[in-house]
Amino acid sequence: MRVPILAANWKMNLSRREAKNLVEDLLKVAQPFQQNQQREVVLCPSAHLLVEVGSLLEGKSNYGLGAQNVYWKESGAFTGELSSTMLRDCGCSHAIIGHSERRAYFHETDKDCYQKVEAALQNNLVPILCVGESLEQREAGKTKEIVLNQLQGALKGQSLSSGDKLVIAYEPIWAIGTGKTDTPEGAESTIAVLRQELGNLFGERIAQQVRLLYGGSVNPGNIDALMAQPNIDGALVGGASLKAESFARIVNYQTQASLAN
Ligand code: PGA
Repeated sequence: MRVPILAANWKMNLSRREAKNLVEDLLKVAQPFQQNQQREVVLCPSAHLLVEVGSLLEGKSNYGLGAQNVYWKESGAFTGELSSTMLRDCGCSHAIIGHSERRAYFHETDKDCYQKVEAALQNNLVPILCVGESLEQREAGKTKEIVLNQLQGALKGQSLSSGDKLVIAYEPIWAIGTGKTDTPEGAESTIAVLRQELGNLFGERIAQQVRLLYGGSVNPGNIDALMAQPNIDGALVGGASLKAESFARIVNYQTQASLAN
């Protein structure tokens, strides 16, 4: 069984004080530990908050700490960059790689993503690799082609011993921060194709272990329906992760079984 992951992408937001309040409130209201409802929560703050947020999460076994980016070199003259070893040193367990904002504003390519994924895997940092199509690409009927190319570009040739060391987030660009979401069935169909490709790349056993998340305007109102899809193993949440109440509701999404009770 794949343990669902609810990941918060805080992007370039929050002061140290705001972050502390948010984490403390979240820990009070979110209860991801209920029996039979094991869930992983990964908080991805901006770099200046990593150590502090990490220390607030200490001893909370269901919580992980993620960076929003990573550089593939170990150390040296790369001003402004952080290596996977440095991120591990800050307490990180995960790193978002290839977010569409980094691809668009910082010109990250699939080759960059490949090197970042490789460095992360080598240093025991779980990559949360993001893929997703633009509105134009979607309207041209190219969604699956685009996301498969991104997946192959970042992963083909990597060695992966186990599927729980990798997370993929399918985030249609037109859905990010817009209040528009893919339908649960639409997201499921793209994510199922991604899982199938993971099977081609790494074999069926590993493909069944990889957690595939949906991202793009996930909120308390749409999380339950998204999580009811068989291939959707969680969510990468931006805006709605900045408020303890809304992110806690997302972490505590209701399954069909719990809604029936
Ligand atoms: P959003 O962002 O939830 O605000 O749409 C998601 C993301 O960019 O990861």
